[in-house]
Amino acid sequence: MDKELNLSVLISLFFILGSTIFLILKLVRSRSKKNVPPGYMGFPWIGETIEFYKAQRKNRLFEDFIQPRITKHGKIFTTHLMGSPTVIVNGANANKFLLSNEFKIVVSSWPSASVQLMGKESIMEKQGERHQCLRSLIGTSLAYAGLEALVPKMCNSVQLHLDKYWKGQDNISLYRSAKSLTFSIVFECFLGIDVKTDMLRTFERVLEGVFAPPIQFPGSKFSRARKARLEIERMLVEVVRKKRKQMEECKPQEGEEGGMLLSRLIAGVIRGEITEEEVVDNVVLLTFAAHDTTSFAIAMAFKMLSQHPNCYSLLLQEHVDIIRNKRQGEKLTMDDIKKMNYTWQVARESMRLFPPIFGSFRKAITDIEYQGFIIPKGWKVLWTTYGTHYSAEYFEDPLSFNPSRFEETVPPYVFLPFGGGPRLCAGYQLAKLNILIFVHFVVTSYDWSLLYPYETITMDPLPFPSHGMPIKISPKL
Ligand code: HEM
Repeated sequence: MDKELNLSVLISLFFILGSTIFLILKLVRSRSKKNVPPGYMGFPWIGETIEFYKAQRKNRLFEDFIQPRITKHGKIFTTHLMGSPTVIVNGANANKFLLSNEFKIVVSSWPSASVQLMGKESIMEKQGERHQCLRSLIGTSLAYAGLEALVPKMCNSVQLHLDKYWKGQDNISLYRSAKSLTFSIVFECFLGIDVKTDMLRTFERVLEGVFAPPIQFPGSKFSRARKARLEIERMLVEVVRKKRKQMEECKPQEGEEGGMLLSRLIAGVIRGEITEEEVVDNVVLLTFAAHDTTSFAIAMAFKMLSQHPNCYSLLLQEHVDIIRNKRQGEKLTMDDIKKMNYTWQVARESMRLFPPIFGSFRKAITDIEYQGFIIPKGWKVLWTTYGTHYSAEYFEDPLSFNPSRFEETVPPYVFLPFGGGPRLCAGYQLAKLNILIFVHFVVTSYDWSLLYPYETITMDPLPFPSHGMPIKISPKL
C-alpha cells in the first residue's frame, strides 16, 4: 500500500515538475520571441536569402528589400539570411550603438569563404589587442608624414598609367582602368611591392571567390580562388623572406624601417610583434579592401559629374586654379590636395548615393538589449549605409545629387561609406588621395564623356558598372 502511495506521489511530483519546467520554458521562449524585433523569418535556413540576393544583384537592396520592411516593421527588423537569423538596423543611433560597441557586444562576421581566402590572420578576423596591434602598424604608414610622402609617388603612378593606357586611345573602360591603377598604387606606393605581370588577374581570381559558397570541386569559383590564393601566398612568402633578410642584414634603427607598409610589417615580424602569416594575410586583405571600393567610388564620381555639368564646371575650375599656380611638370603637394575641397565633396556625395560597401554583418556575442528589443546571442546584425544616406531625416532631398551639402558638418554615424567605430576603414586616407589625384590628372588632361550614360550598376556582391563604364576620351590641347 505504502509502495503504491510513494509511486503515485512520485508520479504526481514528476508531473508537476515537468509541467512547471514546460511552462517556464514556454514563458521564456514567448518573452524572448516577443522581444526580438518584428519581422519575417521565411522558410527554415533559406529564410529571405533569395529575395535579399535578387535585390542585391539589381543594386536595389534598399528599394526592394530594406525599405519595404522598414515600412512594414520599423527601422529595426528581423529576417533570416544565409542560414542565420539576422536583425537589420537602420539610423544614426543604431549605427552608433552597433559600430562603437565592436568587441563588447558584437564582432565582425564574414562568410566562411572570405575567411579562408583572406586568411584567418587578417585584420578582419582579429579582435581586441591583436586588432589594435595590426591597426597601429597599418595606421603609421597613413599618418600625416606617410601621406605626404605618398602624394608624389601616387602622382607618378597616375601619370604613368595615363601615359601607358590612355594615350592614343579614343575609348577606355574607366572602371577597369581605375581598378588596375588602384592595384598598382596599393602595391607599389603603399606596400612597396613591385607589381609583376598577371598579378592583378591572380588577385582578382581570389576576390571572385570571396563571397562564393565555400564548396570545393574542380572548376568551382571557390576552388579557383583557393588555387589563386596559394599562388599569391607563394609569391608573397618569397617577397617577405627576401625583404626580411635585407632588413636584418642592414639592421635599421627603430623608426628607420622606411615608410612603406611592407617594411613596417616586416619590422614588426623581426621585433616578434607579428608573424609572417599575419603579413601575408593582411597584404591579401588590404588589396581586397582597397580594390573594388576605390575604383567604384571613382567611377560613380565621374558618372555623377557627367550628369551634372554645373558641378563639373565647379570641379574643373578647382583643378585649373591648382595647376595655374604651378610650373610645367611641377608635382602636386599635400597643400594642393587640401585645396581639392569641392572635388572631395563630389566624391563624398557620390559615395553617399552609391556606397561601395552598403553595410556589413556583425554577430551578437551576448544577448543585446536595444530599444526595448532583444537581439539574441549568436544572431547576425547588419548595419547599412542606406538607413541614413537615403533618409530625409538626415539629408534634405536625399536622392538628389548636391555635393555642397557637405559644406555643413555631418553628425556622427550618419555618413558612413567608410564605416565607423574601431573598424572604421583603415585605408580611408589612402582612398581619398587616390580618388583626388586620379580625378585631378584626368580632368586636367582629357575631355571625356560617358559612352553609356544609363549604364546599370550590378552587385556581386560589391557594386560595379555593368559594362565597366566605357568613356570616350580626347586629350586636352
Ligand atoms: C572608397 C574606398 C573605400 C571604401 C568605401 C571603404 C570602406 C570600408 C568600410 C565600410 C569598412 C568597414 C567594414 C566593417 O565595418 O565591417 C572598411 C574597413 C577596412 N578598410 Fe576600407 N574602404 C575603402 C578603401 C580602403 C583602402 C584603400 C584600404 C587600404 C589599402 C582599406 C582598408 C580597410 C581595412 C584594413 C579595413 C578593416 C579595418 C578593421 O577591421 O579594423 N580600405 N573599409
